[in-house]
Amino acid sequence: MKTNIQWGILGTGRIAEKFAIGLQHVANAQLYAVGSRSKEQANLFANKFNIPHAYGSYAELASDPQVDVIYIASPHVFHAEHTLLCLESGKAVLCEKPFAMNARQVNEMIKKAREKNLFLMEALWTRFLPTIRKTEELISSGVIGDIIQIQSDFGFKAEYDPQWRLFNKKLGGGSLLDIGIYPVFITLLLLGMPDEIVSSAVIGPTGVDESMAAVFKYNNGKIASLSSTFMAHTPTETIICGTEGRIRIHRMWHTPTYMTLTQNNGTSEDIYFDYASNGYEYEAQEVTNCLLQGLKESPLLPLSFSEKLISLLDTIRQQWNLEYE
Ligand SMILES: NC(=O)c1ccc[n+]([C@@H]2O[C@H](COP(=O)([O-])OP(=O)(O)OC[C@H]3O[C@@H](n4cnc5c(N)ncnc54)[C@H](OP(=O)(O)O)[C@@H]3O)[C@@H](O)[C@H]2O)c1
Repeated sequence: MKTNIQWGILGTGRIAEKFAIGLQHVANAQLYAVGSRSKEQANLFANKFNIPHAYGSYAELASDPQVDVIYIASPHVFHAEHTLLCLESGKAVLCEKPFAMNARQVNEMIKKAREKNLFLMEALWTRFLPTIRKTEELISSGVIGDIIQIQSDFGFKAEYDPQWRLFNKKLGGGSLLDIGIYPVFITLLLLGMPDEIVSSAVIGPTGVDESMAAVFKYNNGKIASLSSTFMAHTPTETIICGTEGRIRIHRMWHTPTYMTLTQNNGTSEDIYFDYASNGYEYEAQEVTNCLLQGLKESPLLPLSFSEKLISLLDTIRQQWNLEYE
């Protein structure tokens, strides 16, 4: 039986660096190889993080027989192609969010993983953070009663650059897919699939949403308001309001270090969290544990969740007629 998982990283951009740092704090895991479009870039990344093997192409990384699992850190538009490359080569995959550009691509990825009997998971790191686990625990304990409303936002002022991944339509730009996915994720996690969605977006000069807002309505009397933007620093909080109290997950709520539980009886408690590293260690530990147990999906973030998530993103986008090639 395997006791150690050898990781490969595909792509050497910003998130790949953060993930490499987090991975150093994961038990039973080794950062074994990196793949980049250029050998020079792969070498630089490998030297920085002390990685024994550096490849100048993604295909070479995928074909290294010693690699167990590959973390895909390329721009959204390449997620499906790179996931399929790795699965085809017999590797388990952890692929950055959004899982792909649309439900059709996600279905193809899931189909391939099942065909090859390989592990696959979306890298929705927030799902695995202690704050979110605690939030679920508090809600199940009944301290805030039945959830009635959720307010969740994610916004920052990005330097406008039409070529940059965030604004560039060819690279899957737009606030919904990049950061709006977090409010959609937490609402889906806590309330499930909505019965009605109303949304609107401000489409910028590059043809992608610079700002967007959505309302999810549920036939059982629940409602959520969600928003994202690249044009302003918003509170970036999530507030979950129930019949008996509320939970406020403070800024930046997708990677929070504290939350406040306020109950209708007047009590209020701040709850603090420490991370072992930068927070990416939790998702990497989950994947490592799943692989060591021979699982093909994470029980905490099953593929059915990612299918629902992408279908919500598709529905919202379709309301603004925003289509990617
Ligand atoms: N979970 C999180 O907290 C989080 C945070 C930020 C981003 N992300 C996700 O991670 C993904 C990457 O984001 P990032 O901010 O790391 O992007 P980035 O800094 O632009 O890096 C992307 C990397 O992808 C590779 N790549 C392959 N084809 C490319 C192309 N045509 N143009 C540009 N890069 C290409 C490049 O690596 P090589 O040159 O080495 O091939 C590049 O360094 C996105 O899908 C994003 O949603 C997640």
